[in-house]
Amino acid sequence: MDDLVGIAEIAKMFDVSSAAVTNWRSRSEDFPKPVAILKSGPVFQAEHVKKWYRRRNKMAATVISSINLKGGVAKTTTTVGLAQALSGVFNKRVLVIDLDPQTNATTMLIGEEKWFALNQEGYTLATLFEDAIDDSSNFNLLKTLQKSVGNVNEVKSVDLLPSSLNLIDLQDRLITMPAGKYQTRNPVNILRRGIKDIVDDYDYVLIDCPPNLGYITLNGLRISDGYIIPTIPDVMSTYGIPQIVTRVAEFSGEIEDEIIPIGIVATKVRGQAAIHTRTMNKMHNDAGKPMGGSKLLYPLVFDAYFSESAQIAEAAEYQEYSTLRQKWGYQGQYNSLVEFTEEFMRLTEGV
Ligand SMILES: Nc1ncnc2c1ncn2[C@@H]1O[C@H](COP(=O)(O)OP(=O)(O)O)[C@@H](O)[C@H]1O
Ligand SMILES: [Mg+2]
Repeated sequence: MDDLVGIAEIAKMFDVSSAAVTNWRSRSEDFPKPVAILKSGPVFQAEHVKKWYRRRNKMAATVISSINLKGGVAKTTTTVGLAQALSGVFNKRVLVIDLDPQTNATTMLIGEEKWFALNQEGYTLATLFEDAIDDSSNFNLLKTLQKSVGNVNEVKSVDLLPSSLNLIDLQDRLITMPAGKYQTRNPVNILRRGIKDIVDDYDYVLIDCPPNLGYITLNGLRISDGYIIPTIPDVMSTYGIPQIVTRVAEFSGEIEDEIIPIGIVATKVRGQAAIHTRTMNKMHNDAGKPMGGSKLLYPLVFDAYFSESAQIAEAAEYQEYSTLRQKWGYQGQYNSLVEFTEEFMRLTEGV
């Protein structure tokens, strides 16, 4: 028999008040109709309500990609730091999806040895993409999903879907992927299909994308509510930002699903470097204004930023720490991370 639920139970299901559920009902025309009205109030089919909720929130998790067309701009460092702070400081359940064939997020979170073993067994995201190309079904989501990863004692709720160097070749082969008997398979929908069963288990899903806008990155964007752009504040690193915003907006239009530019975060900032100060000022000044020759706006810039620090660079090594503060450092680096994470949660609320 299908589960029936009342207002109070629905509230409990999604961790909100009964008043919130009543509001959903009165404000959303598409809220499921009750299957019966009992003395205690209306009852609904739990499945219908869950489906509505998922659709309303796209997926219940907030899914954010991390993109820059340039490598070496601390994209991975920012993604992993954010994941660990969301978990360790704010108690959120986080999934990191490593789509970058460089596998840096993966090795930061599980170490090289473990990664090597998983890669040999085919327990990485490469297998998911291989399946789509070869029409096979070798991908094992449960064995690929690495639970409670990282090397920081106080960080307990970060899971990881590991990457593989093989993603480089797969990227090109995706172009020739078979469309399936009913022409429904799409090379940008592979990740979405592969992980839809677990996305709802998280508060945040963070995707570390490769430094290009190829098919693999588009798979990440396809399931994203928004994206952040980590960048070193210099001319070369910020050069591609308007192009990213433009291309993602085009893609978002094609899939008829919003992908919001959450903001730019400055990394490896050298306070003494005039070019860094100039670029920071310019970005803050451009933020929210139309980009040259376009209706699109230049993204917001996070107030929080990351200064260049040897300790942050060393934190990339897979070694044990008991606290995040110990890992990130006592000279303000940890505080920047927490400030950035707070700002991130504020800016992604409700996207
Ligand atoms: N704030 C920082 N200060 C000093 N080095 C940093 C900082 N952030 C990242 N790094 C280092 O810079 C390099 C590139 O960072 P990474 O996160 O791998 O960039 P990306 O993912 O954009 O290629 C790495 O060696 C990393 O440890
Ligand atoms: Mg990287």
